[in-house]
Amino acid sequence: MKRLNNKICLVTGAARGIGAAIAAAFKDEGAKVILTDKNLRTLHATASDLSMEFHELDVENEEHWERLSQLYPQIDVLVNNAGITGFEDSHASQDPENSTLEDWKRVHRVNLDGTFLGCRYAIRAMRKKGQGSIINISSRSGLVGIPQAAAYASSKAAIRNHTKTVALYCAEQGLNIRCNSIHPAAILTPMWEPMLGDGPDRETRMETIVADTPARRFGQPKEVAALAVLLASDEAAYITGTEMTIDGGLLAGSIASPARD
Ligand SMILES: NC(=O)c1ccc[n+]([C@@H]2O[C@H](COP(=O)([O-])OP(=O)(O)OC[C@H]3O[C@@H](n4cnc5c(N)ncnc54)[C@H](O)[C@@H]3O)[C@@H](O)[C@H]2O)c1
Repeated sequence: MKRLNNKICLVTGAARGIGAAIAAAFKDEGAKVILTDKNLRTLHATASDLSMEFHELDVENEEHWERLSQLYPQIDVLVNNAGITGFEDSHASQDPENSTLEDWKRVHRVNLDGTFLGCRYAIRAMRKKGQGSIINISSRSGLVGIPQAAAYASSKAAIRNHTKTVALYCAEQGLNIRCNSIHPAAILTPMWEPMLGDGPDRETRMETIVADTPARRFGQPKEVAALAVLLASDEAAYITGTEMTIDGGLLAGSIASPARD
């Protein structure tokens, strides 16, 4: 018996990276998966590879969510995965002293407003059955301060807290709708490519980035997907309102890196 048999699962930002890996893992576990993303071209290619239904969804756009709710008035699982760092199209400073208000708002619109709209849609679409699972992809940056990425850290921290509010609200309403956040760190996806490059020093850059990670490597999207499968499944029936780190041990200690010999 597959773990997500007959569940209708919708994933945002699923054209590539962690979202695409979650979609593939859900399908392997028997789910009917709906892929969504803002980037239609990549979405189309990924949906063809995975043989899945897909729809354009810019998570900060309320009308897009409204359209989706007409198409899918009832779902079992939503993964609010779409997110941006703010460095995708710009190298402008994002520290708390020099960030522009527009850059600050842009990151919050996608990461936080997108998650708010997703949770609102999911509660309504799960209320009919009275059960479901909402999985919000936050970050280790939602648990600690990040001097050079103030808006990203702030938006991811707010996702962590909103997750708990949604979990408590649903419980108060007598609904068996669970809501949890996942906090990955250093997962090797296309998000990292602008920072890693493809030059001869790529390997060195990768080693530097994970030097403080006890596991001393990048995580893989499928490792995050395995955690999402657990939270989506009925095995996680008693897990709600919690946060789960998946970071190779990075946040386990104040000085995370074990002594080298
Ligand atoms: N990769 C990591 O190391 C890491 C670490 C911590 C948290 N995360 C989080 O995991 C999630 C996925 O990250 P990833 O590494 O796969 O990133 P990615 O950049 O590879 O993929 C993100 C996807 O989101 C889509 N997207 C961006 N803005 C959107 C919008 N407004 N509406 C809909 N889709 C949109 C992009 O088109 C892309 O397909 C993000 O929320 C990210 O913050 C990633």
